[in-house]
Amino acid sequence: MYQILSKAKLADKIFEMVVRAPRVAHKCLPGQFIIAKIDETGERIPLTICDYDREEGTITIVFQTVGASTERMSFLEAGEAFEDFIGPLGRPSVLCLEENLDKTREKKIVFICGGVGTAPIYPQVKWLKEHGIPATVIMGSRNKDLLFYVDNMKEVAEHLYVCTDDGSYGFHGMGTNQLQALWDQGDRFDHCVAIGPMIMMKFVCKLTAELGIHTEVSMNPIMVDGTGMCGACRILVGDEVKFACVDGPEFDGHKVDWDAAMVRQQQYKTAEGRAMLALKE
Ligand code: FES
Repeated sequence: MYQILSKAKLADKIFEMVVRAPRVAHKCLPGQFIIAKIDETGERIPLTICDYDREEGTITIVFQTVGASTERMSFLEAGEAFEDFIGPLGRPSVLCLEENLDKTREKKIVFICGGVGTAPIYPQVKWLKEHGIPATVIMGSRNKDLLFYVDNMKEVAEHLYVCTDDGSYGFHGMGTNQLQALWDQGDRFDHCVAIGPMIMMKFVCKLTAELGIHTEVSMNPIMVDGTGMCGACRILVGDEVKFACVDGPEFDGHKVDWDAAMVRQQQYKTAEGRAMLALKE
């Protein structure tokens, strides 16, 4: 069993848990994910690793309640435990590999996170800081009440820009508007990592393609069971079919077929919605 050491509500429907999982904590790298299972009958829930402490043997996960399984998970409290907590799974972020360190040092990196996408970006920025590599971070959310990890991110980012769609905190506008504003004032980036809702990643990619910034995206939002078997996370990248959970979750955002990916996400959202209704009955 994998004990929950702490639980906090970070924003509306967004929760953080610190879980004792020494073997995962020993090996994981930024960009990877775990699969959690509440009990024998529970669904497998793939969740990105948000932080890890190798000495304490803990993993931090942040999740948003988007369906029946994550809603059920949000009822768990510190002291309770997951039956399964499998990982680390997926490929680590290309920026956070020791063998790429020299190449990474040459890049001017900007991260753009939207909503709960802040969680998988945080460990990447932290890892870069620990290796002496500066990064600019643009954090966006619909409004001030949905923001989380602003202070955590301030500690690890070289420059942090926070924006809200309604202007209730920071820059009034979306992450793409903030990136364009930085570009217009002469900030030049050559590597972007965008993680957030599909529609946000799609529009970041549209802009970065115009600006000529290589862009990696994380296709976590499309995963269902994270096993490589359900097929729900199948996407088209260039002319190749890929599975987000085994071939990713990061991909070259300029090659992703966004329209097909969004249709696919809508299909299982409906199934999640049905499961949610069943939970409430
Ligand atoms: Fe099921 Fe990838 S999430 S195959």
